[in-house]
Amino acid sequence: MSAAVTIVGIGGSARPGSTTERAVRIALAAAGRRGARTRLIGGPDLVLPLYDAAEAGRSVRGRELVAAVASADGIVIGTPAYHGSVSGMVKNALDYVEELRADGRPYFSERAVGCISVARGCQGAGSALAALRATVHALRGWPTPLGVTVSTEPTPFDSGERLDDLRTRERLELLGDQVVEFALMRRAWTAHPETEAARLPPGA
Ligand SMILES: Cc1cc2nc3c(=O)[nH]c(=O)nc-3n(C[C@H](O)[C@H](O)[C@H](O)COP(=O)(O)O)c2cc1C
Repeated sequence: MSAAVTIVGIGGSARPGSTTERAVRIALAAAGRRGARTRLIGGPDLVLPLYDAAEAGRSVRGRELVAAVASADGIVIGTPAYHGSVSGMVKNALDYVEELRADGRPYFSERAVGCISVARGCQGAGSALAALRATVHALRGWPTPLGVTVSTEPTPFDSGERLDDLRTRERLELLGDQVVEFALMRRAWTAHPETEAARLPPGA
């Protein structure tokens, strides 16, 4: 039996009880139920020095983040929406992935990346998700078909329970499933030498 695939979750804010980190945890838990080994790099781990290519190796947390991404078979990223985009903290963490430019699998190459945004309002959640997916594309990752937006705003036209909570959880779980599915498909594909020969060279 082959080893479990590893899915790394990155995301959250420095705020205790970060909703974003909780959302990433839900997606990772779903990945775990599909047999993946999971690792969370949550809010406190993302308090990193501002990325500087000349200094990146000096940050222990930065090195850990880079090593975790390098060893991942799939990735989940969650960001709070700050002013309509990816928060500075999460974007700074993604800038550290520049350290993998010369890796055998540069940046996020060959990996699915599930993208999650959390905002008070729907508009911020939508624009932050689009910005996050653009960054994942730039890092050569494969955003999953499903991206998830989470709005923390109470629904104005019902009293009490948010009707959407259950569906939000289901969407986060589906996103985790899709990351594992892609990792398993890639593993099956690269297990065959004839398909291995068809791999694109780095940078293609
Ligand atoms: C600096 C800052 C900027 C924010 N900008 C937006 C925004 O543009 N749109 C929005 O809907 N919510 C915005 N919010 C609200 C956060 O996206 C929202 O509270 C989110 O749930 C925070 O995630 P967390 O619980 O993981 O900290 C902002 C919050 C902060 C602190």
